[in-house]
Amino acid sequence: MKFFLDTADLSEIEQGLAWGMVDGITTNPTLIARQGKPYLPTVRAIAQLVPGPVSGEVLATDSEGMLDEAHRLADLAPNMVIKIPLTIAGLSVVGKLTEEGIKTNVTLCFSSAQALLAAKAGASYISPFVGRLDDIGEEGMGLIANIVQIYDNYDFSTEVLVASIRHPMHVVESALLGAHVATLPLKVLKKLYRHPLTDIGLENFLADWRKTGKSFSD
Ligand code: E4P
Repeated sequence: MKFFLDTADLSEIEQGLAWGMVDGITTNPTLIARQGKPYLPTVRAIAQLVPGPVSGEVLATDSEGMLDEAHRLADLAPNMVIKIPLTIAGLSVVGKLTEEGIKTNVTLCFSSAQALLAAKAGASYISPFVGRLDDIGEEGMGLIANIVQIYDNYDFSTEVLVASIRHPMHVVESALLGAHVATLPLKVLKKLYRHPLTDIGLENFLADWRKTGKSFSD
């Protein structure tokens, strides 16, 4: 399973890369707005820092505008993936970009029907938002199970990129279901490492050795 970081914060990205656990990045307009910096230069800086795929989203909503912005994003770096919203205009643009060999990530997916359409359009990734579904009392992980099954049934090559992840169990359940990618905030990635028995066990091992009064090389 691949782990992407869901952020536009360069220091968070550097931290995640240093841990050796980050395969790519997803951004969105909200995350970039939080940085208080211009849009395209921020996406370019991320794409230059990260060896793996970097998703940058179009801001236009009409097909002509989306296509133009998609080309400008794709020109930033060879690892760019163009994030397109799941609308009729959006999926028509995905079809065109796929024909041109440009990778796409269809975002704001909240239903199996939408995921089926994105795969038929040739999307490289589909991003179902599990946390936002949970927030309104629906089962985000149920959607992941359905999409994985539908894509398996027809051998679609679109990768399931689980988005809007809020906690470690979203990641574990995505892995159990066979989702290809989880995109997570740095704070959730950090939580994946933690277990209280690891901390207590380490503390005890070191305390026991300290009692001998000897050093590592004695
Ligand atoms: C995915 O690509 C989105 O950027 C992201 O996961 C949205 O998450 P949120 O619901 O926490 O905003």
